Amino acid sequence: MDYINMSCGQTYLSPRALKYMGRQTQQAIYYPYYYETEEQTVKMMKKLYNTKNDLLIVTGTGTFAIEMGLRSTFEPGEKILVINTGIFGEVAKCIAEIIGLDCIEYKVDYGEPIDLEKVEELIKNSKPNCLYVVHDETTTGAEQPVDELGLLCRKYDLLFVVDAVSSFGGLDVRTDEWGIDLCFGSAQKCINGPQGIATISISPKIWDKIKKRKTEIDTLSLDLETWRRYHDVKVKKYHEWWKKGGDPPKFDYRAPHEVSLPATLVWGLQGALEDIFEEGLENRIQRHKVAGKAVRAAVDSLGLERVTKDEKTISDVVTVVRLPKGIKERDFREVMLKKYRVVLANGEIGDDNVRIGTMGISAAPKYILPTIAALENALVHFGVKVKKGEALNRAHEIFSTFEFKPEVHNE
Ligand SMILES: Cc1ncc(COP(=O)(O)O)c(C=O)c1O
Repeated sequence: MDYINMSCGQTYLSPRALKYMGRQTQQAIYYPYYYETEEQTVKMMKKLYNTKNDLLIVTGTGTFAIEMGLRSTFEPGEKILVINTGIFGEVAKCIAEIIGLDCIEYKVDYGEPIDLEKVEELIKNSKPNCLYVVHDETTTGAEQPVDELGLLCRKYDLLFVVDAVSSFGGLDVRTDEWGIDLCFGSAQKCINGPQGIATISISPKIWDKIKKRKTEIDTLSLDLETWRRYHDVKVKKYHEWWKKGGDPPKFDYRAPHEVSLPATLVWGLQGALEDIFEEGLENRIQRHKVAGKAVRAAVDSLGLERVTKDEKTISDVVTVVRLPKGIKERDFREVMLKKYRVVLANGEIGDDNVRIGTMGISAAPKYILPTIAALENALVHFGVKVKKGEALNRAHEIFSTFEFKPEVHNE
């Protein structure tokens, strides 16, 4: 029996991602078939990022991309201001410290909005080189004002680094308009692509900074330059030589063989992106707005306390709720899983909360309505009094305001 996957990743795989990943591998990456896949995938991904900057697809999950970006750009001792809005802000701080950066932390209480005046004060007082923020903090269900933070970065000439791992494919991300220099994405969240492949957009300012490094980077596979060589030289130049013939291209590598991408996962990402653009990005973002609103209305009427309440800060792709006193998140998820076959994401900020992901495919009534029914019944199982049927009615009302296209997310 199938499960209803309301997790925050690995989310459902899109129908085309599944289909494309089922293909037999017949040609190595330096043959035209793969080159075309890569070109088309990068093009679609840039559209999702709203960027003209370089975009690299890299092996590894979102964390790899984040470490790659920070490790390649900054040298030990450099000052970075990290806005810590939850566990993924915390992770960024840990990575920065592992690399040896001088990390200044602005810790925001879970679910609370960022105080922009405080950020400006910290910039003025501590004079960092860079500001780092998580756009959609998946552990608290909070979306941050990246546009306004981008303006601050321009005012104080800071590099702007954004973790948008759980944003792409569900939330609007405007990399160039918001002035983002490094932006990280990952396939397995709202994009509905496979886990194990991530993306990074890199502004000319970042490449310039990397070129001027005083110390040589002490990693091969986590170096953005290695990945640039892989895409621009190994894949592209080799492809051109294959078409034209003549002398094979000469490569200026740090090692005789460097890195490569898993072609099956690139196909998966390509398929997922094709599904996104077939639906239409605008429609998809709107669909997530309606889905998020429906979930919030339902959990409110079930009497569950949301971690993020501020209207300007709530995320439409993940809703995090505190469970009634005495119910542990593990026990609650077990009932949801075993009795109702609904998969929720674990609570990351303690043992009293669970997360409901509405990411890509799952941002639709077909998945949300049975989840609400299961939440209601699971609460009753734990002895909580609820107004039966009210949460479903609230969600139904909200869903009736939007036309869901069944053909796109009905596989
Ligand atoms: C906002 C955010 N950043 C970073 C990560 C880490 O990504 P990964 O688990 O793909 O390494 C996640 C994953 O949940 C995330 O939601």
